[in-house]
Amino acid sequence: MNVFHIVGARPNFMKVAPVMNALKTRPHIVQTLVHTGQHYDANMSEVFLEQLGIPAPDVNLAVGSGTHARQTAEIMTRFEPVLLDRKPDLVLVYGDVNSTVAAALVSAKLGVRVGHVEAGLRSFDRTMPEEINRLLTDQLADLLFTPSEDADVNLRNEGIPAEQVFRVGNVMIDSLVKLLPAARRQSQTGLCLSQPKPYALVTLHRPANVDDAAILKRILQSLLEVSQDLAVVFPAHPRTRKRIADFGLQAGQLQILDPLPYLEFLAMQSRATVVITDSGGIQEETTYLGVPCLTLRENTERPVTVSLGTNVLVGCDPSKLRSEVSRVLAGQAKKGTIPPLWDGHAGERIAAVIAG
Ligand code: UD1
Repeated sequence: MNVFHIVGARPNFMKVAPVMNALKTRPHIVQTLVHTGQHYDANMSEVFLEQLGIPAPDVNLAVGSGTHARQTAEIMTRFEPVLLDRKPDLVLVYGDVNSTVAAALVSAKLGVRVGHVEAGLRSFDRTMPEEINRLLTDQLADLLFTPSEDADVNLRNEGIPAEQVFRVGNVMIDSLVKLLPAARRQSQTGLCLSQPKPYALVTLHRPANVDDAAILKRILQSLLEVSQDLAVVFPAHPRTRKRIADFGLQAGQLQILDPLPYLEFLAMQSRATVVITDSGGIQEETTYLGVPCLTLRENTERPVTVSLGTNVLVGCDPSKLRSEVSRVLAGQAKKGTIPPLWDGHAGERIAAVIAG
C-alpha cells in the first residue's frame, strides 16, 4: 500500500512525524513525503524536519508565498502530475493550511482516497482562512481522524457518516510527549537560561491580528504594558515581523526574535509564566504542559483547551489581557487537565486504522 503524506507549513511537521513513525513498522506500507513548499524559510521548515526526525521530502513542490488563490492553485497544479505519476492508494493531509485543502481537492477529483488528520475542528468563524480549509477538507476526506469529542459532533452535524470518523487523539501531543525530555535538556542551556524569570512567551501571526495597523498597534501596546511586570519574549512569524516594520510600529522592550526551532520553543513554553498567542497548536501544547495560555482571539476551534485545559480567550480586549496576566501573577491562573487520548499514541491509532 502506497501512502502519501502532504505537508507544507510549520504546524504540519509535528503532526506528520508520529504518523510516519508509526507506519514505519508496517512492512506492507510504502510512504512518500510531499512538501508543498508553502513555508520555505529554513527556520520555518528545515529545522523542524531535522528536530522531529522527519526524512527529507521525496518531492518538493516549492510553491512559496502568494495570495490564497495563487498559493492554493499553485499547489494543485504542481501536485496533480505527481499524483498521476505515482498513483498512491491513500493521501494523508494534516491540519488546516492551504496545502491541506489543495492536496485533498486534487486527490478527491482523481479518485484517490483522502485521510484528514486533525479533522472536525471548527471555530465557526468563516473569516478565518483556516476554517474554510477545514470545512472543505472534511467534506472531501474518506477517513477523518479527530482529536476530541467536539470534533466528532461537528462532523456528525455536517452529515459525515460515523463509520468514516475515528477519534484517535492529538498527534501534535505525540511529538510533544516524545521530545519534551530533549526540550527540557535544551532548557538547561541557550535562550531559556538567558531569560530572566518570569517571562511571557508571545506568538502572533493571524491575518486578523497582524494585517491591520491599528489592531497590531493596540496589541503591541498591551504587550508593552505586560512587559512592565514580566519580560516579554516574542519569536515573530515572518509575516508579523514584516507588518511591524511596514507599519513603522515600535516594539520597545519586547524581545522580538526570529521564529524558534521546535525544541527551543517547547523549552520556552514549558518554562513560561504565561503564553500569549493567536496560534491554534500552542493552545493545545500549553494545555498539555499545564502552562496558562491567553489567546488573542474571540473564538477557538479547539474548545477543549478552554473547557478542560489552561486556555482563556481574551479576544482583542487589552484590559482583559492585562487583568488575566495579573491573575496569573497573583497565582490565580486557571488550572487545567489533559484531555482524553492526548497521550502520545495518536499516531499509532491512525496507523492501526490505515494498515487494518
Ligand atoms: C500558515 C497557515 C496557518 C498556520 C501558519 C503557521 C494557511 C492559510 N495558514 O499561515 O494556518 O497557523 O501557517 O505558521 O495555510 N513567509 C515567509 N517565510 C516562510 C513562510 C511564510 O517569509 O517560510 C511569509 C510570506 O511573506 C507569506 C506570509 O509569511 O506571504 C504568510 O505565509 P503563508 O504560508 O501564506 O501563511 P501563514 O500566515 O504562515
